[in-house]
Amino acid sequence: MWSLRGAQGPVAVLSRLLMTILAAQTVRATITVDVNDVNSIKSAAATIASDMMTYYSGNQSGQIPGKIPGTWWEGGAMFMTLIQYWHWTGDDTYNDVTTQGMLWQAGEHDDYMPSNWSNYLGNDDQVFWGLAAMTAAELKFPDAPNQPSWLALAQGVFNTQQARWDTTNCNGGLRWQIWPYQAGYTTKNAISNGGFFQLAARLARYTNNQTYADWAKKTWEWSATTPLLNTSLWYIADTTSIAAQCHDHGDFQWTYNYGAYLMGAVYMYNMTKDSKWKDGIDGLLKSSFQTFFPNDTNIMCEVSCETIKTCDRNQVCFKAFLSTWLAFTTVLAPYTTGEIKPKLQASMKGAAQQCSGGSDGQHCGLQWYSSTWDGVNGLEVQMSALGIFSANLVFFDTSNSSNPVTADTGGTSKSDPSAGLSEPAVNVPPGVQTPITTGDRAGAGILTVIFVTGWLGMMSWMLRGG
Ligand SMILES: *[C@@H]1O[C@H](CO)[C@@H](O)[C@H](O)[C@H]1NC(C)=O
Ligand SMILES: *[C@@H]1O[C@H](CO)[C@@H](O)[C@H](O)[C@H]1NC(C)=O
Ligand SMILES: *[C@@H]1O[C@H](CO)[C@@H](O)[C@H](O)[C@H]1NC(C)=O
Ligand SMILES: *[C@@H]1O[C@H](CO)[C@@H](O)[C@H](O)[C@H]1NC(C)=O
Ligand SMILES: *[C@@H]1O[C@H](CO)[C@@H](O)[C@H](O)[C@H]1NC(C)=O
Ligand SMILES: *[C@@H]1O[C@H](CO)[C@@H](O)[C@H](O)[C@H]1NC(C)=O
Ligand SMILES: *[C@@H]1O[C@H](CO)[C@@H](O)[C@H](O)[C@H]1NC(C)=O
Repeated sequence: MWSLRGAQGPVAVLSRLLMTILAAQTVRATITVDVNDVNSIKSAAATIASDMMTYYSGNQSGQIPGKIPGTWWEGGAMFMTLIQYWHWTGDDTYNDVTTQGMLWQAGEHDDYMPSNWSNYLGNDDQVFWGLAAMTAAELKFPDAPNQPSWLALAQGVFNTQQARWDTTNCNGGLRWQIWPYQAGYTTKNAISNGGFFQLAARLARYTNNQTYADWAKKTWEWSATTPLLNTSLWYIADTTSIAAQCHDHGDFQWTYNYGAYLMGAVYMYNMTKDSKWKDGIDGLLKSSFQTFFPNDTNIMCEVSCETIKTCDRNQVCFKAFLSTWLAFTTVLAPYTTGEIKPKLQASMKGAAQQCSGGSDGQHCGLQWYSSTWDGVNGLEVQMSALGIFSANLVFFDTSNSSNPVTADTGGTSKSDPSAGLSEPAVNVPPGVQTPITTGDRAGAGILTVIFVTGWLGMMSWMLRGG
């Protein structure tokens, strides 16, 4: 996913202007929630989900199911959040829309590489759909008849990504972008590798197939040879470059990077009880708490951009993932509950006071630590809020129903280890030359196109969001 990484460009400036105008129209209503009252949380989550879906039109006639204008990866992220919402609330209002979008975008090879969009995807974009499919399998979201199973779709993503493992640079790892003509092709980043690690770990636990566990371990260990996963500081750098043999580091700190590696370590620990994984959990929890719950408030903050209001649309939804992955951490590594619970509760209380914007006075903002709506609105910020409200429902589960299932404990999604294998590994699309010597120039050209269309897309998204 392309993001401006906190840049102070014209988009950020215009965004702030728009937000100020929108903030002036605030109607006070706020969402009220009591951390001890499950019904108040469910009802708040329902309001937030409903507001989130007002920004989604993929199921309307003439629209493309699962595709959100100006972004592809966020569709997978949104459906993942909706599956978790259904799981914890029992509200199936969005199940049909979810099934439709998740299957529509699965692509010709059952691996979330649909030909409409596959020429411009990063490994991180694709893996979010894979994680959504994995979530569906583990939470027993109903498989559709005569369609690839959720588990098979997750396996399809795994298979295509595993084939892209790049040993010719930095002795391993996934690149950020998939295609040589994309500028991010020469970068290896935390969310692509952390996402693949997590997917492999979850497939290992679900299927009990050692191949997935081996890949999870290998990805973790390779990451730890680079600044993407510093296991002495438990510090996760966002990016590292092939040009510097993966010794350099882009240091923006993002909640989802920590969440991606944390959740994978939790699955590996649950499966193996190996202290190596427990060290990973403890280390990443400690650094996540220090970094993303600043000032002793216990309230989650996207620190690289939130307080200075420079988050782009990608970054605005990241808190959804750390929220729900922390919730599943308490399920699969129950010893962590004591330290995680106060953080999830305080963050939800914070989010509730921040959800006082928009025309109904219940649209959410991003700054959960502030009681004044910050003027951020849209699908992404609703997604983050939905994540933190859903996550808190984990504490009301008394019957193990929050446990992600496996093939041996009630999972019914059918395995297809060959899903996605018909996808050529790094197939340069027809008519496109692979730039070898002119790579940077070609990459920069594409980047400009993406930036300009992305900018236009973002502006129209923001205007419609108002
Ligand atoms: C699209 O999904 C929404 C739920 O998000 C539902 O209310 C609406 O009726 C659906 N529209 C169509 C055309 O199916
Ligand atoms: C691909 O694009 C066509 C034409 O816009 C559209 O009808 C179709 O639904 C799209 N498919 C996907 C998977 O996005
Ligand atoms: C981790 O951080 C320490 C302290 O800054 C540094 O010495 C070490 O080289 C780092 N490890 C990796 C793999 O980058
Ligand atoms: C935490 O405190 C510092 C110093 O007062 C401040 O700059 C920062 O914005 C605060 N962060 C949050 C999330 O409140
Ligand atoms: C693994 O997860 C289950 C819940 O599915 C939990 O009961 C069990 O204690 C976990 N194992 C470990 C080692 O924490
Ligand atoms: C929950 O799962 C654990 C093992 O994961 C089992 O020992 C326990 O009996 C289950 N509890 C209930 C209420 O089903
Ligand atoms: C285990 O996974 C690997 C990798 O996808 C696959 O080649 C193998 O067939 C799987 N084994 C079983 C028994 O499903």
